[in-house]
Amino acid sequence: MTVSETVMSRRTIFKFKPDPVPNDVIEKVLGFGIFAPNHKLTEPWRFTVVGEETKLTLAERYREIQIEKAAEHVSAENKVKIGEAGFQKMMSKPTIIAVSCLQEGDEQQRREDYAAACCAMMNVQLVAWEMGVGMQWSTGKITMEPNTYRLLGIDSEREYIIGFFYTGYPAEIGNSPRKPLSDVLRRVP
Ligand SMILES: Cc1cc2nc3c(=O)[nH]c(=O)nc-3n(C[C@H](O)[C@H](O)[C@H](O)COP(=O)(O)O)c2cc1C
Repeated sequence: MTVSETVMSRRTIFKFKPDPVPNDVIEKVLGFGIFAPNHKLTEPWRFTVVGEETKLTLAERYREIQIEKAAEHVSAENKVKIGEAGFQKMMSKPTIIAVSCLQEGDEQQRREDYAAACCAMMNVQLVAWEMGVGMQWSTGKITMEPNTYRLLGIDSEREYIIGFFYTGYPAEIGNSPRKPLSDVLRRVP
């Protein structure tokens, strides 16, 4: 695939085949992330690949989050079902990768470092796609909780979790159209 073909065909993947993505594939893909542009070569990205034991703990927390989100009028029995569906949803992600960004320097450096880490994330998504691996970038509640930082060994004073990549071989590929470029393009003389 050319770069433009990869950009145009990549879609966020929500449903994965159960097959695990081998570690060497994960590392190969992340290895393209670190070639993203970054001002003053701060290389602010950090990747945390979540193992099975930690995924289980995240899935248990996700069960609780889904129950907490359920409306008050939902019966206790249905809340249990909603929680179980949440647990299974998290467990169905073959690999979870947390991507974080160093929090160093002044506000301008932090903005630049955040932008650079997002560029790295896009590199990763594109190369993964080229290799047949799909991802969902998630910024859901679980990615932001103090408990998640503790669980992943990420010091929130030093790093900010930009999001999780739910990663695996795609079971379904959706479609997400865009508005025409002319809607968002402005020219000034
Ligand atoms: C910063 C960022 C945060 C995102 N967070 C979520 C999320 O929490 N949940 C989700 O379902 N998708 C999330 N996405 C994925 C977007 O929903 C997805 O990219 C968008 O629908 C466009 O679809 P596409 O990637 O298939 O083109 C996020 C994407 C970005 C860039």
